[in-house]
Amino acid sequence: MPKLNIVILAAGKGTRMHSNIPKVLHVVGAKSILAHVIDCAKSLNPQKIIVVYGFGGELVKQAFTHEKIIWVNQAEQKGTGHAVQQAVPYLEEDANTLILLGDVPLVDANACKKLLEQVEGNLAIQSFNKADPTGYGRIVREDDGNVIAIIEHKDATETQRKIIEVNTGIMAMPNKNLKKWLSQLKNNNAQGEYYLTDIVESAVLDKVNVVAEITADEWSVTGINAKADLAKIERIYQSRIANQLLQQGVTLKDPARIEVRGVLECGRDVEIDVNCIIEGNVTLGDNVKIAANCVIKNAVIASGTHIAPFTHIDDTKIGENARIGPYARLRPGTTLAADTHIGNFVELKNAQVDIGSKINHLSYVGDTTIGKNVNIGAGTITCNYDGANKFRTVIEDDAFIGSDSQLVAPVTIGRGATIAAGSTITKNAPADQLTLCRAKEQKSIAGWKRPVKIKQ
Ligand code: UD1
Ligand code: CA
Repeated sequence: MPKLNIVILAAGKGTRMHSNIPKVLHVVGAKSILAHVIDCAKSLNPQKIIVVYGFGGELVKQAFTHEKIIWVNQAEQKGTGHAVQQAVPYLEEDANTLILLGDVPLVDANACKKLLEQVEGNLAIQSFNKADPTGYGRIVREDDGNVIAIIEHKDATETQRKIIEVNTGIMAMPNKNLKKWLSQLKNNNAQGEYYLTDIVESAVLDKVNVVAEITADEWSVTGINAKADLAKIERIYQSRIANQLLQQGVTLKDPARIEVRGVLECGRDVEIDVNCIIEGNVTLGDNVKIAANCVIKNAVIASGTHIAPFTHIDDTKIGENARIGPYARLRPGTTLAADTHIGNFVELKNAQVDIGSKINHLSYVGDTTIGKNVNIGAGTITCNYDGANKFRTVIEDDAFIGSDSQLVAPVTIGRGATIAAGSTITKNAPADQLTLCRAKEQKSIAGWKRPVKIKQ
């Protein structure tokens, strides 16, 4: 393959987004619109990626400091041709250039490859047959089918406006030609802009072949101009991910009601019920079941584990055959070994729970190490924070923590220890003994009456 330079046009203001965030930084899936385009560009292995930026430029640059990109400022937006002119000093003499639009997130790398195969000294343009072509540049062909011009909507005659084949904005050509044609652009048109599309007429004059490759995938050429476009593209993007999951054998109760904002990897026979949101990198092993309304972010869940409804999982690892939820909240740093049970209204934070242990009801367990086959009773709280510093609780194998106990860290509950219900434990509890700490004795007051409401 010849050398490739890619120029991404992203200087547009995005006025119709009604937002302080630059248009190309709005998000589809988990990635900004421009990140989708840059990822597509990277997959084509170019020598250079040049992004022409303008409005909100510093913010845009900051979002991509980790990428090898040449940033070119187009201070004033005088048209797409003017935008590409800003990149000229960086274009290599012996390379081809592919032009992409920074606001088209679903741009298709395979279609770009096909277009690049057409270059070989030609000017290759990607076009699309649009039912309502209003606003787009029309592809004008001679009777024999050769492309002779692209005429912008505002400059087109009534007859030309009837043409439904439009310019998608994606094109590719040899740099030597591009540089020459860009230097010939004029702005004597309806919008007073330097149109990139005018290079077609220069190519025709130079007897360079102009080929238009028609794509059938409208979404891969749809630009984002307003929030309505963003919402529509998000649905398309999500439905594509859902279809990929279905194709891999994942059971989705309703492919229209799953959101994947990141990367989801699934083993065999995974089932996901409705209204689940997957964020970051999530891996689900074989036979994992996720019930309705779960939010799962950056998690690894091993095979056979079931997650019941309304569970939130963030930065957590879960072993095989665990039972989690409903209404559980697993916060960062938590690891659960195989066969663990975490029930409703249980919050875990930076807790490591070993095989077979259970925390089934209404508990807060933070900064805690729990051994094997431990049972944590309802309403247990690890008091890990004294208002200034955090401390750890250690609960060894086979311990039993009675309901409504507070374990004031730092504290260790020994192996096989039992903590009586309602205890506030501030000192280490020895192994195999019952430890209790309550009001000394249970009293009953004979003749005591409940207060009654005073009549006004
Ligand atoms: C352009 C094409 C039109 C095509 C349409 C597809 C021209 C003259 N027209 O229309 O044939 O059908 O795209 O969407 O090329 N941009 C800059 N700097 C500028 C102007 C634009 O960076 O000075 C960027 C925008 O950020 C955007 C892209 O170029 O990413 C396209 O600009 P836009 O204004 O949306 O398209 P049109 O010029 O109307
Ligand atoms: Ca109590």
